Amino acid sequence: MAGRTQDGFAGQRVLVVGAGFMGAGIAQVCAARGLRVSLGDVSQPALDRARAGIVASLQKLAGKGQLTESPQTVLDRIDFGLALSPAAEADWIIEAALENLELKLKLFAELDRLARPEAVLASNTSSIPITRLAAATAHPERVLGLHFFGPVPLMGLVEVVKGQNTDPEAFERSAEFIRFLGKTPVKVARDIPGFVMNRVFSAAFREAVDLVAEGVVSPEDLDAGMRLGYGWAAGPFEIADNAGLDTCALINRFLVSVGEKNLTPRSDLVERLVAQGRVGRKVGKGFYRYTPDGKRQPWRDEG
Ligand SMILES: NC(=O)c1ccc[n+]([C@@H]2O[C@H](COP(=O)([O-])OP(=O)(O)OC[C@H]3O[C@@H](n4cnc5c(N)ncnc54)[C@H](O)[C@@H]3O)[C@@H](O)[C@H]2O)c1
Repeated sequence: MAGRTQDGFAGQRVLVVGAGFMGAGIAQVCAARGLRVSLGDVSQPALDRARAGIVASLQKLAGKGQLTESPQTVLDRIDFGLALSPAAEADWIIEAALENLELKLKLFAELDRLARPEAVLASNTSSIPITRLAAATAHPERVLGLHFFGPVPLMGLVEVVKGQNTDPEAFERSAEFIRFLGKTPVKVARDIPGFVMNRVFSAAFREAVDLVAEGVVSPEDLDAGMRLGYGWAAGPFEIADNAGLDTCALINRFLVSVGEKNLTPRSDLVERLVAQGRVGRKVGKGFYRYTPDGKRQPWRDEG
């Protein structure tokens, strides 16, 4: 059984499913706290990218003196693999695969079959109700949301989301686990689409996207306004480009499908950008353009 005190988490094993932007970051943070981690994906190129990204991030943190061990020591705690079998040894299983309901339902059913009874089964979903994922398992009481924010090694917030049938003890233990990882848990006591933080962000992003689509303001001016006028550390378009506009579009589609139209833009601007391949920082173009060394520049339509 996972420990009650923070020390009790030492030596535990974590399986992270999905080695994309979020899964790689979650694996890195768990390994940096001394945990043994398996990082799984269906795509070998995704695993290779995840390894390279983790190495680069660890080196950067070490360069800033923010790592107590060598990057190699942390990296050595992570096994990269194509199978879900490490679920059988894990204390914590954190699913961070694509934001797709069918895919996640299948994964939860399979992970639940493989996992030990005392393991916690968590999803990093941005918008899918935890209770729906839990319904695909035989043990809904051990299913909950651990909604990390990206980039995970840099962001201090994790929403801990209680599904309708989540065991209150597993919920509290998970909040402790998040503290052990050096993050601050925000406890979400009821499982509603978008949870808390994405509902609030989506309301702001909806308005921001529509204002830009209607030609009222540019993304860079609106972002500067939110930074300077409201003290946001980054504007909504900077945040969306970092998160990936493809992920934002999937979240929007899901919110519409469950009747939460008030949280999504009226305009189809995000969908159009995604169709043009402008999916954000990871490809060097989104609402902004990014230089090869990662500098953000206003978008200009010269092609
Ligand atoms: N991007 C963000 O800022 C952010 C923030 C919070 C939560 N999330 C959520 O985290 C999850 C992952 O988002 P991301 O941005 O890392 O996406 P991503 O596209 O970077 O990565 C998703 C990964 O899942 C893998 N995958 C697909 N099917 C799989 C399967 N059956 N088994 C294992 N892996 C599989 C893909 O190969 C890919 O590597 C989504 O649910 C998303 O909503 C994203």
